[in-house]
Amino acid sequence: MLKIKSVKYIKSIMDWRDAPRPVRPEVAFVGRSNVGKSSLINTLINMKNLARTSKQPGKTRTLNFFSVNEMFYLVDLPGYGFAKTSKKEQLAWQEAIEGYLLGSEQLRMLYVLVDCKVGVKNNDVQLVEWLRFKNVPFQIIATKIDRISKSARAVQAKKIVETLQLADQSDIIFFSAKNRIGRGALWGDISRRVKN
Ligand code: GTP
Ligand code: MG
Repeated sequence: MLKIKSVKYIKSIMDWRDAPRPVRPEVAFVGRSNVGKSSLINTLINMKNLARTSKQPGKTRTLNFFSVNEMFYLVDLPGYGFAKTSKKEQLAWQEAIEGYLLGSEQLRMLYVLVDCKVGVKNNDVQLVEWLRFKNVPFQIIATKIDRISKSARAVQAKKIVETLQLADQSDIIFFSAKNRIGRGALWGDISRRVKN
């Protein structure tokens, strides 16, 4: 497993052209508001709240870059699908996220988070269709799996595979920020992506 020697918050941006220098490989995390993106990043890097989290949806409002080992960046993206966000703000985020996903030449993998209890929603399906259409490489992560039983997990996995038309359940990484399940598997995946 990758040894974490240093982690640093670098900057928050709305325009992908403002991404930090020097350019380095990036992996990013996207998903509905409150799905657990920022919590997942904190779990990965063993920090309590370097990526700011909240019970209130709509916490992350910019593209936030964290540098690991001065080797690559983790990118925390704003959540979508939060009803209380103004139309104008939603649109601004959508533009910022789409611009980043299409513009960044450093993005090695986009992790798409789905809450294992909430399941796949319409905007998740739309995102995944768009990613396929645009050839953005993505990987599904089912979050908060501490909240459901082992048997419910299998049922949810099957539903996710069907609604997002994945090849197989092995295409899903199961993750919990609470009991750190999946952390090793995810680091394994990230290390492979950011190599060279
Ligand atoms: P936005 O920034 O609003 O898009 O949300 P986010 O996707 O970054 O979610 P965040 O990490 O802020 O977590 C939202 C809430 O879910 C917080 O109350 C977290 O404590 C909780 N949460 C996140 N991950 C887990 C998990 O693995 N298990 C449990 N039980 N709760 C979690
Ligand atoms: Mg967040």
